[in-house]
Amino acid sequence: ISLSADNTFGIAAVADALMEISDAAQLAALAADPQWSAMPRLILGGGSNLVLSDQIPRLVLKMTGKGIAISAEDADYVYVTAQAGERWHDLVRWTLAQGLGGLENLSLIPGTAGAAPVQNIGAYGLELKDVFSHLEAWDFESRTVRRFTLEECCFAYRDSIFKQAWKDRAAILSITLRLPRRWTPKLAYADLQKYFADRDMATLSATEISDGVVQIRQQKLPDPAVIGNAGSFFKNPVVSAAQHAELQQAFPALVSYPAGEQFKLAAGWLIDQCGWKGQALGAAGVYHKQALVLVNLGGATGADIRALAQKIQQDVQNRFGVLLEPEPVFV
Ligand code: EPU
Repeated sequence: ISLSADNTFGIAAVADALMEISDAAQLAALAADPQWSAMPRLILGGGSNLVLSDQIPRLVLKMTGKGIAISAEDADYVYVTAQAGERWHDLVRWTLAQGLGGLENLSLIPGTAGAAPVQNIGAYGLELKDVFSHLEAWDFESRTVRRFTLEECCFAYRDSIFKQAWKDRAAILSITLRLPRRWTPKLAYADLQKYFADRDMATLSATEISDGVVQIRQQKLPDPAVIGNAGSFFKNPVVSAAQHAELQQAFPALVSYPAGEQFKLAAGWLIDQCGWKGQALGAAGVYHKQALVLVNLGGATGADIRALAQKIQQDVQNRFGVLLEPEPVFV
């Protein structure tokens, strides 16, 4: 089974088998079948945060459940539940159409609702964890549906329990978000300040902010439907105040932001400084408008992407003494 159309890098990977899963009953049936349940699995959403190898000797479970609804309300919040297979951006626009703000900063992020918690998607000063209530997932060990609260998901910067202890153990079936009745815009991020500089920011609606985020992303990030990619390829590294001070002394133009006691460095800037922007290694390239995004120039394999990523890691390490950690999951 070809997975070419199931990963945004457009890697021509081949899996042993693929099943579309829209509800827990199908997973229960699968668990009851000794032949299928013995196979190693790969849980797939939109495939937008994956680097696949050529051969995937696994049963791929593609989460396709559909449906979005208001599932609860209280004095302060409206709770929206989306099935795993809904496209994330469709969910954002659905909430805006209901007059609910809160997700606008996360507009146009590729992938599905069910995949959003796995790496705690984030952009423009907001992370999924900030609007998250709970999720329901199938547990392949206990063979039951289990609820995970915000705390139980162990969300961190581009990370959760589903990338760690529960990797390959859970299939997320639905997520529930908690949107405030009294919405306030989050416009602190520099790109948003710049984009809305000539507007009275107090009068902006959530939908206008969403439209702005869409524009900003379209200017900087390649559309996976046109050029294969997985968004930011590396996390922005976090360094101690001491290391930050040393780096700033050596590189006065260093781009960084305070992160608690520590500092977050712009990985795109580090890669750019090493001269990689717009460069290529075989069929794998560095996007010419954003050095943090690796792209498939046509026919790239997972090994091509990995080789380019390693070269970039080496150069950044040699020059800045900082190790870049990949953001996507390697399979
Ligand atoms: N920069 C350069 N050269 C480059 C790229 C960036 O000098 O080629 C410098 C610029 O000074 C720029 C700064 O780095 O101002 C930061 O760049 P940008 O605002 O584009 O954000 P980022 O740190 O590259 C992060 C997220 C994105 C998210 C944006 C907006 C990570 C790993 N990436 O990117 O998330 O959309 O901020 O919030 O945290 C993703 O995870 O896939 C993703 C796209």
